[in-house]
Amino acid sequence: MAFLRNILAKQSPITNAFTNTIWHRQMSGGNPVECKVAVITGGAIGIGVACAKSLLENGARGVMLGDIREKEGKELAAELNKTYGKDKALFMKCDVTKKDEFENLFKCTYQRFPSMDIVINNAGLLQDKYWPLELAVNVNGLVQGTLFGFHYMGKHGKHEKGRGGVIVNMASIYGLQQAYACPVYNGTKGFVIRFSNAMSHEYYEKMTGVKVLTMCPGVTDTNMIDESSTYALDGFGDLGKLVSEGLANLPPQPASACGDCLIKMLCSGENGGIWVIEESECYKVRLPDRQTLRTVSIMFRLLFLKNIRNIASIFLAKRLQWPRNTLQKSSLARGRNEAQPEQPPKPHKEIFFPQLGRDGIKDKVALVTGGTDGIGLRCVRELLRTGARGVMIADTNESKGFNRVIEFSKDYGQSRIAFIQINPANYVLLKNAFISTLNFYEGLDIVINNVRFKEKNWEDQVDENIKGIVLSTQLCLEFMGRNNGGKGGILLNIVSEYEENTDSCPLHSACQDFVVRFDRSVATSHFDTTNVKVLTICRASFDTIGCDLTTILTKGTNGCVWMPCTCASDS
Ligand SMILES: NC(=O)c1ccc[n+]([C@@H]2O[C@H](COP(=O)([O-])OP(=O)(O)OC[C@H]3O[C@@H](n4cnc5c(N)ncnc54)[C@H](O)[C@@H]3O)[C@@H](O)[C@H]2O)c1
Repeated sequence: MAFLRNILAKQSPITNAFTNTIWHRQMSGGNPVECKVAVITGGAIGIGVACAKSLLENGARGVMLGDIREKEGKELAAELNKTYGKDKALFMKCDVTKKDEFENLFKCTYQRFPSMDIVINNAGLLQDKYWPLELAVNVNGLVQGTLFGFHYMGKHGKHEKGRGGVIVNMASIYGLQQAYACPVYNGTKGFVIRFSNAMSHEYYEKMTGVKVLTMCPGVTDTNMIDESSTYALDGFGDLGKLVSEGLANLPPQPASACGDCLIKMLCSGENGGIWVIEESECYKVRLPDRQTLRTVSIMFRLLFLKNIRNIASIFLAKRLQWPRNTLQKSSLARGRNEAQPEQPPKPHKEIFFPQLGRDGIKDKVALVTGGTDGIGLRCVRELLRTGARGVMIADTNESKGFNRVIEFSKDYGQSRIAFIQINPANYVLLKNAFISTLNFYEGLDIVINNVRFKEKNWEDQVDENIKGIVLSTQLCLEFMGRNNGGKGGILLNIVSEYEENTDSCPLHSACQDFVVRFDRSVATSHFDTTNVKVLTICRASFDTIGCDLTTILTKGTNGCVWMPCTCASDS
């Protein structure tokens, strides 16, 4: 079976020959790197260096390297100038989390070079232990770099020298599959892929002449990998060991392979291309939309024989151009980690699920964030209707909150409903909501996070949709986790539609991807210790997913993702 899988997973010689022919034809049609100028963030060590070298080797006019590592950056620039010629490389100290410093990198590029043609948003961290910083670099820094890229290279008149260009955003294979030992990193790379995919829509390209490509390296021999075990998420025992073991299971490649892949990507020139580079082999993948996920989910149900399912998953992975093994490791639509042929199933997990029992929601205590409106409000009503002992609404809008309490008190009694004002991205206020619920109702069984999209600036959106989710998940595990003296519980994160191409709201769709990746990682990695079941709904209305709240809470298996028009759970 393994032999067959290997043969199917590898690119056939015919495919290889075909892609190589295309590449050479495009190269001969003109070298897209020649005389071009590139800005590279995180360019002092690792993959950033490999990209800089590859560009200069292929005739680039110059590279502007930005990084917080001043010493390494300056040494590298000197070395590159020695090898490739005077004034080919320039280094500037630049922290991508500091907007002014970051913008200066772009301004100086135009001062020192005649043009700006390529922006590589490469700076990144794998440090779940310091996840707010990780989000600031991997998510906010990358969004900011992309926006600066459009602003400075776009031909839409924002900058007088703009004439179009290419942005390459650095994701990871961990943005395409589950990486349970580093859930926040997993989420940030899912975000990068979805965000870049949305920004590559022709709407933006037509207006600006800027293309957006995504690179997803596999395990690459750099500092990041060496240090990964030191920076695992706190509070989960030997997670650091699991991070390094997980990475060690994948064959490492030299950073130069990413440099080679970069040239191939630029030669291909296809806007929106998502390129995986693993074992020094570069190939393109496509993101499945939700309808495809649904079809795959249904097909998995039909293929109940284990061996048939394994073979089919490999065929499907090839047909859909998912990265190798991804479909087996991350069956998103199916809603749980179920198609890993080598690992024995763990039926005991079912026994420990904190099912709501015969009485369902009756007598349970719930905390609902964003519960004053929309689907959050509907959850509150449903919880009260089905007999919850107490429901705490946590929301930013104080007057709406009080009105809801008055409204529900009339029908369900004063003691069963309460309100507390929060800011979802503020740890102290959010923690206070958890403590107040526990003090007020002497228990906490269900937490529902209703993530909402608001027309605010993008930093607030990221804060609310990503930071808020990570914070409340952390607090759920802290207050309900069996490892922290709790009895377990259910965490339901509600995000809205999971779409393939949401060009009009790229941040929104990328945030949803973060939540899906993050939730599934947390669900798999921590359930044994916490007994907290993590569920995700990807739709802003119960009607469209065809299930009610009680069904989802009682029957949803840990890690399951609910999509429109289908119940992804197989319970
Ligand atoms: N190494 C891998 O296996 C691997 C795999 C997939 C994706 N990636 C991604 O590739 C990118 C580069 O990783 P790497 O392996 O070369 O790691 P690395 O640690 O060798 O290099 C990362 C660089 O980013 C810089 N950086 C960090 N924070 C910064 C900030 N605030 N401002 C500016 N620069 C900052 C660091 O100083 C460093 O020079 C990252 O985005 C990473 O997530 C790496």
